Amino acid sequence: MSIIVGFLPSITARKPVKAREKLIDAIEAYYRAGGVQDASSLARNRYQIGVDHGISVHDVARYEVGGSLAILLNTAPATFWTLLLLHSHSGLVRDIRKEIDACTETTLAENGSPLKTININSLKESCPLLLSSYQEVIRYRTMGTSVRMVMEDTYLDQWLLKKGAMLQIPSRVIHQDTDLWGATAAEFNPRRFLPEEKPNRPRDICFRGFGGGKTLCPGRHFATNEVLAVVAAFIARFDMKPAEGDGWEIPTAENTNLAAVVMEPDRDILVEIETRQGFENVEWAINLDRSGMTFAMVTEDIGETE
Ligand code: HEM
Repeated sequence: MSIIVGFLPSITARKPVKAREKLIDAIEAYYRAGGVQDASSLARNRYQIGVDHGISVHDVARYEVGGSLAILLNTAPATFWTLLLLHSHSGLVRDIRKEIDACTETTLAENGSPLKTININSLKESCPLLLSSYQEVIRYRTMGTSVRMVMEDTYLDQWLLKKGAMLQIPSRVIHQDTDLWGATAAEFNPRRFLPEEKPNRPRDICFRGFGGGKTLCPGRHFATNEVLAVVAAFIARFDMKPAEGDGWEIPTAENTNLAAVVMEPDRDILVEIETRQGFENVEWAINLDRSGMTFAMVTEDIGETE
């Protein structure tokens, strides 16, 4: 927060600035030791693009601190909330499991055990309740604020936005607006984004989880693939229940970092996880081939024109 405020950060944000430099040095040392050669193709390509464009290794490391925010900061809590909200909503995991099971391929692994393969495309084609629940998690748990400069005096109905002003568009206010989303706007409704619910939803543009316009999140499909793959594999493989008490308690998210779009839980949730009964000897694979097939959630993907 103190770095983002940006008032003489070398004095007012001495500790976080020092921490950031430490992180940059650590990433640079990792690059120089050749660590990235064993990393994912995403990490390798991010590094190589910088180097190919004449950027110093030190500066690539510096960029990577910002890049890590975009890549990690929202995807991890999005996965957390998806798992938690799906499990805490009565009967939902059972229904979503049916969808995932129905599109999971079973063959034989080399050791003779059943091999179950979850295909990311099949999830996007055949699991409407999983997709709707995921999109609802993003609607329900995001609080990003798009910030824009007003380039020309512009009227929005009777409201004048003055040239040069800074405009802030808080997604949470839009997502909680009962005029748009109806009386249940403040509730988690996993069926809200099912195709048949379209008449009960506002225009697609009212979903602002990934922002919109010129700075629409370019990582939205990447993040969606990651979250869906982890959540589907988890639900297919494991049973999870709260470690304490009978019911799930949803944590507050009052201390979310200003840079985050997805809210961060204020405390850990203790859980007990077991392998799903009857699946003890199963081998698992996740197939991400042709993962470029997109799950269209934002107006820019759907092509809404009005
Ligand atoms: C669930 C996960 C994610 C959420 C909810 C999310 C959300 C957002 C939002 C709301 C914005 C601002 C859009 C605007 O200003 O209108 C944004 C920007 C951005 N996101 Fe994401 N994001 C996620 C994951 C990712 C991932 C995985 C990557 C990279 C692989 C990424 C890369 C970026 C970048 C580079 C920008 C800045 C775009 C620009 O200014 O042109 N995001 N994201």
